Amino acid sequence: MDGLLKKIESNNVKIGVIGMGYVGLPLAIEIAKSDIEVAAIDIDEVKVNAINLGRSYVPDVSTSLLNEQVQKKRLKAFSSFEIIKALDAIIICVPTPLNKTKDPDLTMVVSAVEKIIENRGKQQLIVLESTTYPGTTEEMILPRLAQSYGKVGRDFYLAFSPERIDPGNKVYNTYNTPKVIGGITSNCVEVATKLYSNFVKFIVPVSSPRAAEMVKLLENTFRSVNIGLVNEIAMMCSRLGVDVWEVIDAASSKPFGFMPFKPGPGLGGHCIPVDPLYLSWKLKTLNYRARFIELASEINGDMPRYVVNKINEALNGCNKSVRDSKVFVVGVSYKKDINDLRESPAIDVIHLLKTRGAEVFYYDPYVDMIQLEDLSLKGIPLEQGLTEADCTIIITDHSSIDYQKVVDKAKLVVDTRNATKGINNSKIFKL
Ligand SMILES: NC(=O)c1ccc[n+]([C@@H]2O[C@H](COP(=O)([O-])OP(=O)(O)OC[C@H]3O[C@@H](n4cnc5c(N)ncnc54)[C@H](O)[C@@H]3O)[C@@H](O)[C@H]2O)c1
Repeated sequence: MDGLLKKIESNNVKIGVIGMGYVGLPLAIEIAKSDIEVAAIDIDEVKVNAINLGRSYVPDVSTSLLNEQVQKKRLKAFSSFEIIKALDAIIICVPTPLNKTKDPDLTMVVSAVEKIIENRGKQQLIVLESTTYPGTTEEMILPRLAQSYGKVGRDFYLAFSPERIDPGNKVYNTYNTPKVIGGITSNCVEVATKLYSNFVKFIVPVSSPRAAEMVKLLENTFRSVNIGLVNEIAMMCSRLGVDVWEVIDAASSKPFGFMPFKPGPGLGGHCIPVDPLYLSWKLKTLNYRARFIELASEINGDMPRYVVNKINEALNGCNKSVRDSKVFVVGVSYKKDINDLRESPAIDVIHLLKTRGAEVFYYDPYVDMIQLEDLSLKGIPLEQGLTEADCTIIITDHSSIDYQKVVDKAKLVVDTRNATKGINNSKIFKL
């Protein structure tokens, strides 16, 4: 271990990051910025080529910064895994989605681990950052690695450190977001802590990978459950004839014991709708039903239907039906100021509207084209959509959109995000 620690202390380590997506690329850049050589590994040749040409495809990473690291030869991308032999540490950032039956799909993690084993070197540190259920590192990864490397904490080091990146966040990034680390042995925590301290400001060590895995799931379950609660409060407020946004704003004036969450058209992104289900799945294997998670998932999952019913109400008021109406969706990414469409509620809303016979078109400054298995749509200019549509629905409240203009030009507006806050107009329908 001493040899590896010395290398880390003198910044003379070579790190590999497997999976160059929203998580892996910003991490690789942060490592390179700290003057450490990093191998960016991905099975997607397009991403590998883009990195080596110095071109960023992740909004949080600027092309100039990426290009600088490539030019300085600190960052190089590979689609082959052979480079692993020459590395001291390998960090896994591959996707952990759900399969068709909404159970954890760890095939990409397993495949990355197998590639590490095939190309293993000596005294390497392996860290899993992909979100997963408690027990994955110890139960699934450790036995595989130990079989080929030898004894953990002596022949190799293994830790779990959850990624906490918040795409689009201008304040918190990979460097200044505290990093939780749980190692299999105390040697593993020590090596991983030393390594990450080179490019992350604060480290929070915990007693095991299982605890670190649970930390991430607590964080995301906390959000999912609280969003579920506030979505239900929005439905209650609607029945009571109370403006939910006014209630949340006023409740937020309490300086203690209250934390505001916002209702919306449903959950999106790779994390909040998916991660809690990793936890409930694991608990099912232990004969325990994660009731809060199930309820929040049900309420949040119903929100697209709820907002489509709002469109229905809004159109009814003008003697129109959803069928044969033109509905214009403003903002389709799952949250503001990013281009990520994964699990976006906009997609569910569009599908529901189409099923009910509406003609649907959209505008999003970050998404030119929706190209999914079951949906292909090209964005249109904002002005055109506002003038042509019978009803405009705001799904994502991108900062660059002028909502006064939206209200002025549109015939009817259903605002799911309170983007039209402060604009008084009877044609606006809120959640
Ligand atoms: N995106 C977020 O905001 C976020 C935040 C926190 C945690 N996470 C977690 O981080 C992990 C990665 O998420 P992401 O958003 O970066 O995913 P992503 O889809 O943006 O990127 C993953 C990359 O991994 C590559 N890949 C897949 N299998 C591979 C393999 N076997 N070998 C090499 N490369 C492979 C893909 O080609 C892709 O480029 C997930 O577990 C996710 O839950 C994501």
